[in-house]
Amino acid sequence: MPDLIVAGNWKMNTTVAEAAVLAAGVRDGAAAVSGVELVLCPPFISLAAVSEAVKGSAVKVGAQNMHFQESGAYTGEVSPGMLQGLCDYVILGHSERRQMFAETDESVNSKIKAAQAAGLKPILCVGETLQEREAGKASDVISGQIRAGLEGNGNTTGLVVAYEPIWAIGTGQSATPETAVEIMGGAILETLRSLHGAAADGISLLYGGSMNAGNAGEYAAQACIHGGLVGGAALQADSFLQVAAAVAAAKA
Ligand code: PGA
Repeated sequence: MPDLIVAGNWKMNTTVAEAAVLAAGVRDGAAAVSGVELVLCPPFISLAAVSEAVKGSAVKVGAQNMHFQESGAYTGEVSPGMLQGLCDYVILGHSERRQMFAETDESVNSKIKAAQAAGLKPILCVGETLQEREAGKASDVISGQIRAGLEGNGNTTGLVVAYEPIWAIGTGQSATPETAVEIMGGAILETLRSLHGAAADGISLLYGGSMNAGNAGEYAAQACIHGGLVGGAALQADSFLQVAAAVAAAKA
């Protein structure tokens, strides 16, 4: 079975001081959750404080984005090399970045390669809009995003894929486990297998979109779901740890 992972996407929340407190809370409760890799993804400016707070524990750190170039005239951007030593993971292609910050499949593709070259584990995010779902295009959209994001890249090292239906993010309207399985065990796994053969079955697949302590177990009970990418419920140590505990219990 692929690694079980519960990653907290803090988005544009927490000051540096708040991030350190939240990270320490997760660190202190992490030992009670075994078998699930916990990943905290704070804003860039808090990476150092969070990395310091979880030092010596099993808790890992991730960034929420990254540029694919190593350095240069890219005002406001952060390079793979700058993240080395601070992070193990990097979220790439989140729908908020695709929708609000002009992230394209092409840039996501370059970022995934750059992350892997820097020894960072990319969490590739894919997801359809409500309109695409209602038009019956969800599977096509998702497999298109996977193909484009991984084109020309035979390397599955560290790769994690998160299915986050856009209509489920931050809305409280989580996808049913059946809907998640239809896409994750269907379009996602089939596309990954067609690209990577048997290696596809070693890639951790995360569900994201209004995941919380109450519903996490139902997702993790599905064979093709290996954890979650959690937004709102990751902003408190207790609820984040409860999500992770529910995933661990469902897979035990
Ligand atoms: P949410 O966000 O859990 O608040 O829906 C998930 C995400 O966008 O990663």
